Amino acid sequence: MSQALDEIKIGGLGSSRKRVEDSRFIRGKGNYTDDITLPGMLHMEILRSPLAHARITSIDTSKAWEVPGVHLVLTGEMMATRNLAWMPTLSYDTQAVLATDKVRFQGQEVACVIADDPYIAKDACELIEVTYEPLPVIVSPMQAVANGAPVIRDDKQNQADNVIYDWEVGDAEGTERAFAQADVISKLKLHYPRSHPSPIECCGSIADFDRSTSRLTVYMTSQAPHIIRAAVALVAELPEHMIRIISPDIGGGFGNKVPVYPGYVCSILASILLERPVKWIEDKSGNLISTGFARDVYLDGEMALRSDGKILAVRMHADADHGAFFSDAQPSKFKIGLLHSAFAAYDVPVAHLTARGTYSNKAPGGVAYRCSFRVTEAMFFQERMVQAAAADLGMDQAEFRRMNFVQDDQFPHRTPFGFLTDSGQYGECLRVGLKAVGYQDFLRRQQEAKANGRMLGIGISTMTEPLGAGNSREYDILGIKMFDSAELRVHMTGKAILRTGAKSQGQGHETTWAQIVSHELGIPAEDVTVEEGDTDTAPFGMGTYASRSTPVAGAAVAMVSRKIRAKARKLAAHLLEVSEEDVDWELGRFYVRSAPDHGVTIQECAMAAYSNMPDGMEPGLENNAYYDPPNLTWPFAVYIVTVEVDPQTGVWDVLNMVAVDDCGVRINPMIVEGQIMGGLTEAYAVSSMQFITFDAEGNCVGSNYMDYLLPTAWETPGFELHSEVVTPCPHHPIGAKGIGECAAVGGPAAFVNAVMNAISDTGVRNIDMPLLPDRVWEALTYRRDVFGAPPVRADE
Ligand code: CDP
Repeated sequence: MSQALDEIKIGGLGSSRKRVEDSRFIRGKGNYTDDITLPGMLHMEILRSPLAHARITSIDTSKAWEVPGVHLVLTGEMMATRNLAWMPTLSYDTQAVLATDKVRFQGQEVACVIADDPYIAKDACELIEVTYEPLPVIVSPMQAVANGAPVIRDDKQNQADNVIYDWEVGDAEGTERAFAQADVISKLKLHYPRSHPSPIECCGSIADFDRSTSRLTVYMTSQAPHIIRAAVALVAELPEHMIRIISPDIGGGFGNKVPVYPGYVCSILASILLERPVKWIEDKSGNLISTGFARDVYLDGEMALRSDGKILAVRMHADADHGAFFSDAQPSKFKIGLLHSAFAAYDVPVAHLTARGTYSNKAPGGVAYRCSFRVTEAMFFQERMVQAAAADLGMDQAEFRRMNFVQDDQFPHRTPFGFLTDSGQYGECLRVGLKAVGYQDFLRRQQEAKANGRMLGIGISTMTEPLGAGNSREYDILGIKMFDSAELRVHMTGKAILRTGAKSQGQGHETTWAQIVSHELGIPAEDVTVEEGDTDTAPFGMGTYASRSTPVAGAAVAMVSRKIRAKARKLAAHLLEVSEEDVDWELGRFYVRSAPDHGVTIQECAMAAYSNMPDGMEPGLENNAYYDPPNLTWPFAVYIVTVEVDPQTGVWDVLNMVAVDDCGVRINPMIVEGQIMGGLTEAYAVSSMQFITFDAEGNCVGSNYMDYLLPTAWETPGFELHSEVVTPCPHHPIGAKGIGECAAVGGPAAFVNAVMNAISDTGVRNIDMPLLPDRVWEALTYRRDVFGAPPVRADE
């Protein structure tokens, strides 16, 4: 007789349990870095460069030192005496901590003041006199490789130009041969603009060095505290066990909080020198001007097509603007991240990608903003090209996708760039999306509207994202292999504490990890406390970015729960006085197979682990698991947008947006929907209103929220979400795939494709994002493509 618990009722898999972390967040009781005050704490402010490229001829800090309340003024020269003027980046480049020789972007860190309060520190910063000798400025990859371009990184030996890498992947000759067979060659050139994750909370740290114990504790806004501990140990040569990194609550990260920033390093050195805690909290302008930019890639591609619609080959070239330092935090050996995950969902026989990365006089860029290392650019390019190709062939864009998809029976599928996708129902997702949007009906209404001078458009975008870096065979950061971890301790009363190597920045791990434990052990989710972010207590892990938490740390949570269950089974056998082989499991309870009424709960087993264990058994019920995924997980999605464009003004309105996401098994459907809505909102923002650009002098235009627009509920369209397609991940212990980023990755192309579809009669092939009304108007009026980031155009 089964007494299994109702999994949904105890908050297990599939339960839309309310987010437990919200009870403190919505009461204003979150514990963010800036909420922490330590006894004797000082405050640090950073002086930033007003120029984008200039030689520093002198820095005079004497007036700043004289300000009452100032304790320390740090310059690059002082950092250099401790070998800390430069630091290694996660991409094997170097980055200036405080400038010594030159400044290389507007907003670069030049000096720091540490004072009794942040206002004194800020005032004193303004008294630092820096003499600059301006140098010519580079703001695009085209300028970076032009003849006579100034060499930005003249600090590096053997760096005679501005090229960081020239990289290629795929089969050049095979692609060439396929192009020779093509009936039609479809071409597209576009720019994915520089964008900024702009989390609500900026970056910050509090370093607290205690000379008496030689311990360094740093509270910081890091998505990957263990990587920071490793970096501090290796770079500053401090003993690892003497370093404790604590990431408290984090107010959004989106990739912005993965890299190591100069502010962190300076606050640590200041604390060591002053033997007092030093707090640095970045202001909004500092965050928007200097940290964690993404994208800024020029893409040029062509597709070889057969007249019946079959894709024969794809050729792509990318020019990536990395800013002044190559500081991408991406764990692969691939120079341009996972850009070559493009076309993974399509059955493309052969492809070739070349990529060139260049320096420019912009803040370091290329971080993975809510995506798995340039997958956003990959999917945008893919779906814009697919739409252009369908148009060039005169084919229906939905049918063109459907016929070229990898079909359900083709898995596992090797992509033309070498990835292995393992599961998906691409055609079914498209079918559900088209039905939801009323595709055929819309096409009819579109024709009717056209007859009345109205412009309606429909855009489709699909995406498959490689999520869950590792595996450790192929992915590492500075040699540290990509895996993740979980540690579970079940107390004697059956309550539990779980710790993982991931770090939530708002994604809801405290809620969903407990649900996995609940699913595996039958312990109610509310009985499981989840902790992350403290390197002294959490097991070693690589942190949270690239939607890797569920694929990797979430898998570790399932695996450690299974280890606990295995020990609990032995305890159950002991309590039931039968052999282990005679014991069966149902959610939350072991029972004797031949006498199902005779059983013990997981809670009774927990008590026995501390009070009544069999002879020879180690007491306690706790364990840990390190999980190295065999493959990435590959969620899939179809996003469909309908719009109306005003032919007079270029203003466009979203009529409808349908999202069909297949992320395998959903742990918490409500949280998954929240992740999708957030991603779609960001996608709408990037496609319609956001850009951070640079004028010819390298001034950053858009370093405030009057220029860099965040959509509010007012302008964000409604989204219709569909969850009916579920393809469990074949290698994940609970069948889950990542979801956090999918909508931000796949969404932008749907919006742009819809507008381009609406204006297709003009012959305009492309308008680069953002599709501001004036840019759409320009395309409509002059019947020409609009290329590049405003206001600096690459073609000018
Ligand atoms: O790494 P990150 O947490 O940003 O992304 P994720 O692993 O995709 O998870 C985002 C949130 O959605 C977490 O709270 C997950 O546990 C939850 N999720 C889920 O409930 N079901 C899935 N199949 C995937 C994620």
